[in-house]
Amino acid sequence: MKKILERIEEELKQSFTACGYEERFGKAVLSNRPDLCEYQCNGAMAAAKAYKKKPIDIAGQVVEKLQGSPVFSMCEAVMPGFINLNLDAGFVAEYMNQMAGDEQLGLEKAEQPQTIIVDYGGANVAKPLHIGHLRSAVIGESIKRMGQVLGHHMIGDVHLGDWGLQMGLIIEELRDRKPELPYFQEGFSGEYPKEAPFTISELEDIYPAASRKAKFKPEEGERAGMSQEEIQEREEASRAFAHRAHLATRRLQEGYPPFMAIWEHIMRVSKADLEKNYGNLAVSFDLWKGESDAQKYIPDLIQELERQGLAYESQGALVVDIGEPGDSKELPPCIVRKSDGAALYATSDLGTIIERERKLHPDAYIYIADKRQELHFTQVFRVAKKAGFVSKDMPMSFLGFGTMNGKDGKPFKTRDGGVMRLEQLIGDINEAVYQRIMENRTVSEDEARETAKLVGLAALKYGDLSNQAAKDYIFDIDRFISFEGNTGPYILYTIVRITSILNKYRDQGGKTANGSILPAGSEAEKDLMLQISRYQEVMEAAFTEKAPHKLCQYIYELSNEFNRFYHDTKILGEEDKRKQESWIQLIALAKEVLNACIQVLGFEAPERM
Ligand code: ARG
Repeated sequence: MKKILERIEEELKQSFTACGYEERFGKAVLSNRPDLCEYQCNGAMAAAKAYKKKPIDIAGQVVEKLQGSPVFSMCEAVMPGFINLNLDAGFVAEYMNQMAGDEQLGLEKAEQPQTIIVDYGGANVAKPLHIGHLRSAVIGESIKRMGQVLGHHMIGDVHLGDWGLQMGLIIEELRDRKPELPYFQEGFSGEYPKEAPFTISELEDIYPAASRKAKFKPEEGERAGMSQEEIQEREEASRAFAHRAHLATRRLQEGYPPFMAIWEHIMRVSKADLEKNYGNLAVSFDLWKGESDAQKYIPDLIQELERQGLAYESQGALVVDIGEPGDSKELPPCIVRKSDGAALYATSDLGTIIERERKLHPDAYIYIADKRQELHFTQVFRVAKKAGFVSKDMPMSFLGFGTMNGKDGKPFKTRDGGVMRLEQLIGDINEAVYQRIMENRTVSEDEARETAKLVGLAALKYGDLSNQAAKDYIFDIDRFISFEGNTGPYILYTIVRITSILNKYRDQGGKTANGSILPAGSEAEKDLMLQISRYQEVMEAAFTEKAPHKLCQYIYELSNEFNRFYHDTKILGEEDKRKQESWIQLIALAKEVLNACIQVLGFEAPERM
């Protein structure tokens, strides 16, 4: 189905060409003076320059030709040369009926569906999921879903951090805790146990403990009142431990069988837990690949970089220059191999690209990570293109997000200043929503718990997605869970309200599928229709610009328009059946559009709240 803006522009273009002007001037935008008109065309201003005429004269001619168009109820030329437009109520009602009759609510699937890889999530195995990973998961999931409803083949890949130093740290900490395990017996020749030597909660304890052990600082000892001797001892032990962890990481990366066996246990236990956590966020991945999967491509890719003369030695490391003529500042080269030969973050990403090219043949790549990783991705993209790992014009984009801060404007922390874990954050939100629902106490505790989960998720995700991704934002639980204002719960509340009207209407014996949507009889009704009619356009723009916040803004305005209409209109008490049926159809359509949008944003509405 054509977008409403396309329909408007078709009319404008016809008129411009009929008057002897190029059709490209027939562009329309939402009015920036809603008190004067609904849409406006500024094309006469641009045409005036091209044709050396007065803008108002051109606008006047075009408006003349627009008279009698079925699309507009009003079009007028105003100084200095704007064309103000109002849409015909009958045209808009017909547009509503077409949307309502379409399975996709008028959304058009891409003519040429693309295969697009969305690299998001990015959790690090065996390290607890913290809120730094929340944004990547939430934003990435919504971008993936937007592409899907628009008909693209979206492949979500979690790209786990599963090959770094944390593995060596865990192995050595495990050795210290359970030296009797066969993995640590030199010359052990039996089969390694199928059962993991730890549970997930032990694993969650092992990593932070090991990480602290490897990073002992004298200040810590002083604070704890240790003697100088003790501090020195601890420091040495810490250094030795860190060294062991490095060695273990190296041996793992070289494929040392007992460490590979431990690694597989870590992966299994940790993945199951991650799946559960992402599941609670309604985030799911098509691929659970990780940095480890990229390793087998690395030797060849390094050789290729050397063969092409792109990689050269610098201070013992192997690097590739990435500078390009138009750069505003000098960009550091991409390090592809460290002096000790160890695998690197960038090299893993390059190896991953090679695998994706071979196995998935993508048309585009989208990466979602903290914006502080921007340089990393610039380096990776440039090296990949320079070396021909992807074609030179491959669309590779990096969507970098800002930090989630606490009310003090600093990165969000737990009450005692620790790193907030995702599970705890979700728990806190759900509890706060639950308390709020129970204040009214119209539902059972069980139902309130279930509802709180849905509303809590909406609060969390909408609170994040309604901000422009690149900006930092303040995590304000009280504001996020409020049923009023620009919040997830407000959107859900609006949907629930429509559901309840529709239910009451059915209870009165009404049929929700009867009749059609009639031309609007009030300003509020027309505004609601106009807002609904923008759905396709907003969805496409939000996807192209990778801007879920635009979808949030849209449903916020749509909810406001619905609530204004509802306030002015006694739907259930209406005597005129045709009118009533039309309103019922209209609000049902509003609900469908809202539901389609929140589905894409990654949350859903309860039956009641
Ligand atoms: N694991 C990384 C981190 O925690 C994020 C991964 C982002 N994706 C990528 N392809 N590098 O910082």
